[in-house]
Amino acid sequence: VSLRSFNTMGIDAHAHALLPVHGVDDLRAVRADPTLNALPRLVLGGGSNLLFTGDFDGLVLQMRGTGIDIVGETGDAVLVRAAAGESWHGLVMWTLAHGLGGMENLSLIPGSVGASPIQNIGAYGSELKDCFHGLTAFDFDTGALLHLDREACEFGYRDSIFKHRLRDRAVILDVTFALPKRWQPNLRYAELAQEVALRGWTAPGAADISAAVIAIRQRKLPDPALLGNAGSFFKNPVVPAAQRDALLARHPGMVSHLQGDGSFKLAAGWLIDQCGWKGRTMGAAGVYEKQALVLVNRGGASGAEMVALAEAIGQDVESRFGVRLEPEPVFV
Ligand code: EPU
Repeated sequence: VSLRSFNTMGIDAHAHALLPVHGVDDLRAVRADPTLNALPRLVLGGGSNLLFTGDFDGLVLQMRGTGIDIVGETGDAVLVRAAAGESWHGLVMWTLAHGLGGMENLSLIPGSVGASPIQNIGAYGSELKDCFHGLTAFDFDTGALLHLDREACEFGYRDSIFKHRLRDRAVILDVTFALPKRWQPNLRYAELAQEVALRGWTAPGAADISAAVIAIRQRKLPDPALLGNAGSFFKNPVVPAAQRDALLARHPGMVSHLQGDGSFKLAAGWLIDQCGWKGRTMGAAGVYEKQALVLVNRGGASGAEMVALAEAIGQDVESRFGVRLEPEPVFV
């Protein structure tokens, strides 16, 4: 099976088999079948955060379950549950249409609801964990359902337990979100605050903030339907304060942000941009003109070509700044 239409980078990799999964019964059936259960597994949502570096000689499970419902409330929040196969942005729009704020800063992020906890998606001063309540997953090791709350998911920057202990083991079936009854705008991200101010909004609602986020994203990030990409291709590196101070002394324009533990997050896009990579192309792999952190498939690129470009960028950034970049999408 060609996976080309199942990954937003548009890499033409092949898999042994692809199975649509509508609910837990489909997963139980795979586990009960000795032939299927012996194959390596890849769980696919929107395919917007992975890079196929070659063919995948295994079984691709494509999450297709749908449904969004209000399932209850706590003292200060409304609980909304969505099935893994729902589109993330579709869910954000659903909550806004139902008068619920809390997810608006995460508007227009590509991908599925089921994939969102795995890397704790984040943008514009907000992360999934801020509105996360719990999830249900199927454990392929035991055949049991797991019910995990926020703490159990061990969320970090683009990180969770699903990249570590539960990797290749748990398949997320649905996610429940807690949306505040008393909503407050989150305008901590300077560029978002500017966008809102520019429109003259002094008391923006959640739908207004969503519109501002969508405008910024459409300006800076390529639409995967038009130009293959997987969003940011590297994580923003976090370095000790001493290293950031030394770098800042030599590069006064360097962008960095203080973290809770005293370390600093550097803007990988800025580092790559400084090395002159913005807009450049190697083979069919390129660096997006408007955001150096995004690598794009200019047409027919192989996974190996994308990796070669990423490695060339990584070497340049390391020799110029002494900082190692880590890829952000999952390599398959
Ligand atoms: N910058 C440059 N040149 C560039 C790109 C960025 O100088 O080519 C500078 C910008 O001027 C800005 C800073 O770097 O001062 C940060 O840029 P931006 O606001 O575009 O955000 P980012 O750090 O590059 C991160 C996330 C994005 C998320 C945005 C907004 C990561 C790896 N990426 O990007 O997430 O949308 O912040 O919150 O953390 C993704 O994960 O796929 C993704 C798109």
